[in-house]
Amino acid sequence: MSSIKNRKISNDKIYTPPKIVDIMIDFCGYKEGDNVLEPAKGLGAIYDKLKSPKDYCEIEEGKDYFDYHKKVDLVLTNPPYSIIDNFLKHTYTLCNKFCFLIGCYSLTPKRIDIMNKNGFYITKILLTQIPSWFQRSYIIVCEKLEKEPSNIIFKSIHLGNKCLFCNLPCGGMKGKNIKHCKRKSNETECRY
Ligand SMILES: C[S@@+](CC[C@H](N)C(=O)[O-])C[C@H]1O[C@@H](n2cnc3c(N)ncnc32)[C@H](O)[C@@H]1O
Repeated sequence: MSSIKNRKISNDKIYTPPKIVDIMIDFCGYKEGDNVLEPAKGLGAIYDKLKSPKDYCEIEEGKDYFDYHKKVDLVLTNPPYSIIDNFLKHTYTLCNKFCFLIGCYSLTPKRIDIMNKNGFYITKILLTQIPSWFQRSYIIVCEKLEKEPSNIIFKSIHLGNKCLFCNLPCGGMKGKNIKHCKRKSNETECRY
């Protein structure tokens, strides 16, 4: 864990690969006509695939999520992990349904407990390992409900170890004479 704390790459700027965006959009049951908010747009990986009515926030464009107070049908994002608690807390005030891509270590019992106390429950959860990302990820769909659901949909998708952008193998290839992608999760272009 200390290597995670000391790593040089900010885990607040890790952009979602298009294939994962497609999986998220499909998994969360987003439908055309839903008033959807991407609260941490980044480079637009998720936002650009959504249909109107849609809106976004992005701190680097001067649009801070914590200043956004309109109600929406769905909040859909890969959030900035260093402020995930505040992101979750604010999301509870804006919608009845949200879908987050979240690192497996970030989905803690304490966070789930706080979520439940705010009336939200995980109704669907998908486990995957995004090639080159350091930890496994969950896509969670959370809904505001009167009580805990009796069934939760669980899915797992194995994506292999090929880069989702250039399709070359990535990671764990040191010392081997195989062309592989060295793209880091915060980079926007593949490197060989
Ligand atoms: C993990 S990146 C994900 C970007 C995008 N959602 C995606 O899936 O590719 C998180 C983004 O949140 C932005 N961010 C951080 N704090 C924010 C805030 N308070 N309001 C809006 N955006 C914020 C960062 O600048 C970064 O672009």
